[in-house]
Amino acid sequence: MKSIHPGPRRLFLHATLVVAALLCGCKPSETGPASTGANTTSGPIRIGEFASLAGSEAAFGQSSHQGTQLAIEEINKAGGVLGRQIELITEDNQSKQGESATIAKKLISRDRVVALLGEVASGRSIEAAYVCQAAGIPMVSPSSTNPKVTEIGDFIFRVCFIDKFQGELLAKFAQRTLRARKVAVLSDVSAPYSVGLAEFFTKPFLAAGGTLTAEQKYQTKDKDFRAALTAIKATEPDAIFVPGYYTEAGLIVAQARQLGLTIPIFGGDGWEAPQLIEIAGPALENTFYSTHYSPQVSSPESNAFTKAFQARYNGAIPDAMAALGYDSAKVLVDAIRRAGSTDPAKLKEALAATKDFAGVTGKTTLDAQRNATKGAVIMTVKDGKFLFVDTFMP
Ligand code: PHE
Repeated sequence: MKSIHPGPRRLFLHATLVVAALLCGCKPSETGPASTGANTTSGPIRIGEFASLAGSEAAFGQSSHQGTQLAIEEINKAGGVLGRQIELITEDNQSKQGESATIAKKLISRDRVVALLGEVASGRSIEAAYVCQAAGIPMVSPSSTNPKVTEIGDFIFRVCFIDKFQGELLAKFAQRTLRARKVAVLSDVSAPYSVGLAEFFTKPFLAAGGTLTAEQKYQTKDKDFRAALTAIKATEPDAIFVPGYYTEAGLIVAQARQLGLTIPIFGGDGWEAPQLIEIAGPALENTFYSTHYSPQVSSPESNAFTKAFQARYNGAIPDAMAALGYDSAKVLVDAIRRAGSTDPAKLKEALAATKDFAGVTGKTTLDAQRNATKGAVIMTVKDGKFLFVDTFMP
């Protein structure tokens, strides 16, 4: 049977719909004419999620989705919101450029979702944000840190810190902890996140008396970084800053060590994924990255989350993407509750008024730019395991 909704795989959380689909012998994506959703007052409240469940940053989407899914399950178990259950409709953009905008359009016009959750990578959040803003449907990014994401308009929110903060803390970390005066930067010109974080690091680093010995570039999906690393080696830096995603960062670290570069290499939250260790292994000694959350930092919310996450996902340990995916869903549903309605305009107002929402990654208060202010952690890798090093508060 040919699907009437071609496109990436959809995952349904609302079990009754899946059962209904099985009973009528058709695929889940064919059951739902867009008759419920944004403008109705009964039936499940539909929330859309777009995520990189496959492709070059699959670890981001899978982890974020697990956190989001757990939050929605908990909320539904506790009775839902406004007396209704929540249906999470998840679409996979396969880490591909262009796909998130298409998906956002479909979730809004076909599924009539009341809001969208996503993404991890800033570039893909930016794509969907234009669609959400034009349609007047709120979007909450769990973990996209590039400032541009929320600058797109008043319907776009995030529950994490932004890269101005992350760049500044990395500049401080390089100078104070690594004692690095001369740093080489190797950034991904095809990822807005990487371009932005390189800039947000460079400005405060130079202002505090540091120098850049080299500024080398690469593109997502590159595999061979030896020419750039050889050029960097010749400039004799104290450390190398790699503001990119784990797939390339892992290869960069491994190749740098092969070239005899034993100096510290550091990056931002884009490094975070178990795959980093699979790719680079022991080469990760003397590397560091900043991120939003570590389960090794204890708090009542974090401990409860880790326990629930492990029970739900076969003992898996949650990471920053999972924690922020979880918090983004809880913040959104709290806003639906306070709005007393799923009307997108009212929901937008309620989201903007989010104050001191206690989550796994700390308290979420959204400022006038619809960004959160939160602490960061620095992590390292020791004996093939991620290890918490330090906390940075804003
Ligand atoms: N902050 C990164 C971005 O904006 C995404 C990311 C968040 C990666 C958290 C890992 C952990 O692109």
